[in-house]
Amino acid sequence: MIIHILSAVPELLESPFQHSIMKRAANKGLLQVYIHNLRKWAINKHGQIDDYQYGGGAGMVMMCEPLANAIEELQQEKKFDEIIYVTPDGNTYNQSTANQLSLKENILIICGHYKGIDQRIRDKYVTKEISVGDYVLSGGELAAAIIVDSIGRIIPGVLNDETSALTDSFQDNLLAPPVYTRPEDFNGMKVPDILLSGNQKKIEEWRYEQSLQNTQQRRPDLLKD
Ligand code: ADE
Repeated sequence: MIIHILSAVPELLESPFQHSIMKRAANKGLLQVYIHNLRKWAINKHGQIDDYQYGGGAGMVMMCEPLANAIEELQQEKKFDEIIYVTPDGNTYNQSTANQLSLKENILIICGHYKGIDQRIRDKYVTKEISVGDYVLSGGELAAAIIVDSIGRIIPGVLNDETSALTDSFQDNLLAPPVYTRPEDFNGMKVPDILLSGNQKKIEEWRYEQSLQNTQQRRPDLLKD
């Protein structure tokens, strides 16, 4: 899978994909992430990519020309399956969207800044608008990193144990059960006996019960779906 990211502050994306599971995905050739500096397509030698908004009001708007030129140049190499704009007024991101996106081959993510991007770019090029939650970040880069990370880890072959992504929270609309590791007794706090029983069937039943309880207590909205 190939993911291109268009950003006015590419430095913010230098590290997130160079470690841990994302690094493994890249090393296995399963995920390639290309980060592009939007200023490469600036309208003048001052690196301008934004301007005042028509109608007045505080905050700059990212201009059409740099974005359109960047998108069209990148598109020449390979057509994008999705052009995603990350924005607080997009559809709220969840595991189901991550699962769908992990099946695509070539994605472009556009990171906004300031007041956002000119509406005409959204109308002409963008195929999906995603918010990572009901709060406002200072730019789309961290949102893009969340999306790439959540997609990258579920690409088949990235995780060693294929089942480990399937047993994540949200994969069944259920939160994950509690997990324990050594020691068996930590300052008097013991690991539940069932996990030491060796009875795999009973362990799975216990885990499912715990997942259900966690979800009922913390996220009853998930059970309604
Ligand atoms: N850019 C700024 N805030 C955002 C959010 N919550 N989700 C996606 N992109 C954003």
